[in-house]
Amino acid sequence: MLRNNRNVIVESFKPNFPTEIISEGRVKVLVPELNAFVELPSDYAPSKAPVFYNPVMELNRDLAVLALQAYQRKIDRKISVCEPLTGSGLRGIRFALEVEGVGKTVLSDINEQAFRLASYNVQMNGLARHVAVTKKEANFVLSSHGSPHMRFDFVDIDPFGSPVPFLDSAVRAMRDGGLLALTATDMASLCGVYPRACMRKYGGKPLRTEYCHELAARLVAGCLTTVAAKHDLGVKVVFAHRGEHYARVYATMKYGAKSADESMGNMGFVLHCFKCFHRETKKGLYLVEHSRDCRECGSRLEVAGPLWLGKLFDSDFCDIMEQESRKRRLKFGVRIAKMLSLINNESSAPFTYFVIDKMCDALNLPVPPVKVVIEALRKEGFQASPTHFSSRGVRSEVSAGRLMEMLRGLTKTTASDVEQ
Ligand SMILES: C[S@@+](CC[C@H](N)C(=O)[O-])C[C@H]1O[C@@H](n2cnc3c(N)ncnc32)[C@H](O)[C@@H]1O
Ligand SMILES: [Zn+2]
Repeated sequence: MLRNNRNVIVESFKPNFPTEIISEGRVKVLVPELNAFVELPSDYAPSKAPVFYNPVMELNRDLAVLALQAYQRKIDRKISVCEPLTGSGLRGIRFALEVEGVGKTVLSDINEQAFRLASYNVQMNGLARHVAVTKKEANFVLSSHGSPHMRFDFVDIDPFGSPVPFLDSAVRAMRDGGLLALTATDMASLCGVYPRACMRKYGGKPLRTEYCHELAARLVAGCLTTVAAKHDLGVKVVFAHRGEHYARVYATMKYGAKSADESMGNMGFVLHCFKCFHRETKKGLYLVEHSRDCRECGSRLEVAGPLWLGKLFDSDFCDIMEQESRKRRLKFGVRIAKMLSLINNESSAPFTYFVIDKMCDALNLPVPPVKVVIEALRKEGFQASPTHFSSRGVRSEVSAGRLMEMLRGLTKTTASDVEQ
């Protein structure tokens, strides 16, 4: 007879595949033992196992816990949560157990084994009374919560691939003011390796620039904005971040055609010159009457979008996330603190970033430390900050041409320092 952490008897469950118990945040769950599913070195264990489990996404889940707590603190009442692609249930269980103020929670997974494992994990964590697990298709779960009084305060769409197939029903399942989180792991499409796939899915053109990870988050946010607008919902992006192989966006949703129109006003294009690094933005849904000649060097500008040109981070929201992270003992606490501080700083920084290595490569110069470049820019009166999107990136309103001049100057100074 098995008892859970509240000393309640748990229905026995014997998966027909190797499993192990792991701890993450404040929960313990049963997950597939990934080593048992790797046959070739190239095998990606999380998707080889009968139930999806990816330990590498712990940091993503930690940030999700912090974001949900920040949201709950802001609205200051009990909130309902849905994770309709739950896998082992780990993420949803963490929400229910680690976030104060979480009430009704619905988890679902279409995979029978995942459903059984998530149900077991919910019981093991003593949450059976307010966490429901179903075996229904994600769109079905969301659509059946699309009527008033059934909707959720928070929906987390965390699929393998693109979140787009779930956007319509997710938007309909949101309460007024609710928070929607989206993970997109189809980075090859979003970063411009497969532009047609990106245009088909997200309705925007990607670009293989050095800041493609920021564009990826903006394409996801842009797609959400247009889908939400069809339902007369406005979008405010409060937080976004990149991971090794994904982009993640958090946005609050506001009811009303006016909010939808205002959000659509944040849609537009990025025009980029691959010759001289110049970039500019143009608001609107259509790129009419805009010169495609680079004003710096005359080359042809390439276009990304339509995508979200509005803010990607809300400083207040980041502040609360930072406070919450200090209250918890997270395995990646130090990394998270650094990341949140970087993100908070870039919340008011200019659009896109310059990757110093790429510029120095083009100029055939040795690469100075990013810190030195930022200091030099600030000394000249420019706003400049690092970015969590790239450890070699600098956000600044400086023109690409001026920055390249400065890099030349910096290298000369460093070289003469060495000679002396
Ligand atoms: C990336 S995994 C989820 C990982 C989980 N969110 C976590 O943090 O551990 C995606 C899950 O979605 C499930 N899934 C895929 N398509 C689905 C659908 N249409 N409806 C419901 N579940 C689905 C898969 O079985 C898989 O378990
Ligand atoms: Zn140019």
